Amino acid sequence: MVLRPKVLLTRRLPQPGIELLEKHVDLSINPLDAPMSRQNMIMGIKDKGGVICLLNDRVDAKVIDAAKHLKIIANYAVGYNNIDVQAATKRKIPVTNTPGVLTETTANLTFALILSAARRIVDADRYLREGKFKGWAPMLMLGNDVYNKTLGIIGFGRIGRAVAQRAKGFHMKIIYYEPVRLSHEIEKKYSAEYKSLDDLLKESDFVTIHIPLVESTYHLISGKEFSLMKETAYIINTARGPIVDEKVLVKALKERMIAGCALDVFEREPEVEKELIAIPNTVLTPHIGSASIETRIKMALMVAKNVIAVLVQNGRAPNTINPKVYE
Ligand code: GLV
Ligand code: GLV
Repeated sequence: MVLRPKVLLTRRLPQPGIELLEKHVDLSINPLDAPMSRQNMIMGIKDKGGVICLLNDRVDAKVIDAAKHLKIIANYAVGYNNIDVQAATKRKIPVTNTPGVLTETTANLTFALILSAARRIVDADRYLREGKFKGWAPMLMLGNDVYNKTLGIIGFGRIGRAVAQRAKGFHMKIIYYEPVRLSHEIEKKYSAEYKSLDDLLKESDFVTIHIPLVESTYHLISGKEFSLMKETAYIINTARGPIVDEKVLVKALKERMIAGCALDVFEREPEVEKELIAIPNTVLTPHIGSASIETRIKMALMVAKNVIAVLVQNGRAPNTINPKVYE
């Protein structure tokens, strides 16, 4: 009998991914439907050739060091700030993510949040359920239009562009910020205009964040940035919580420096600033950007294929973040 490579899966994924993996590898699945404790991860990874982890599993140098036979770290997410990629690269371990398959799904949630914040959908739903609806009224639940407004997109990668595509249908003016300006072709395709970050913040009615969390984007949006925004503007974050300074955001909302926010990600997930919960003009969702059945299945198949490419086919994983490891 041929020995099958051993793979640790830190939490159960949609079944098609599990089935594909189980055809090829010896899979150990965390039996609890809960995050794997650090201690269990360090124990579990010891004899494994691969690990499939989640965005809330911290795979740092200590975890990687514990895994002497590790040949792949496959993240079940597009963002990979939870992994010490440098430590993995040093060991020549490929790290993979799940790009592309969740772009449209995340852009849809972003647009749902823009509309929810502007049109007070959550607020209005709560009002109705509390039995407060006594009939149509001229001033009931007035929000703001999205149509014809200016959308500022911070980070014009796959997801940022997919959001722009939707905004076109709402006749929004689209402005974007990237550290390096993009080509004329891309700008033309999305009718998007390049702005400095400061100008984007000054001009936008809605600011939406689509950049990865790295050292240079930590607290990118803090005191100065909120002071540049319009008092009528909303901020939407479906990227990573720590890009926005949450304490300063609370202050900006309380002092009405901005009109509202819609957040799918938080600085200390799953913890959420208590004050954010108490403020009514916030829409808060539990990190569900990629959470459609279709997309989560595609992500599960994608991580499975990455693991199989390396451990079974002895090749390169299609979605490697650190391709240097193959040199
Ligand atoms: C979700 O947040 C992801 O990065 O896939
Ligand atoms: C992911 O799809 C991204 O745009 O980073």
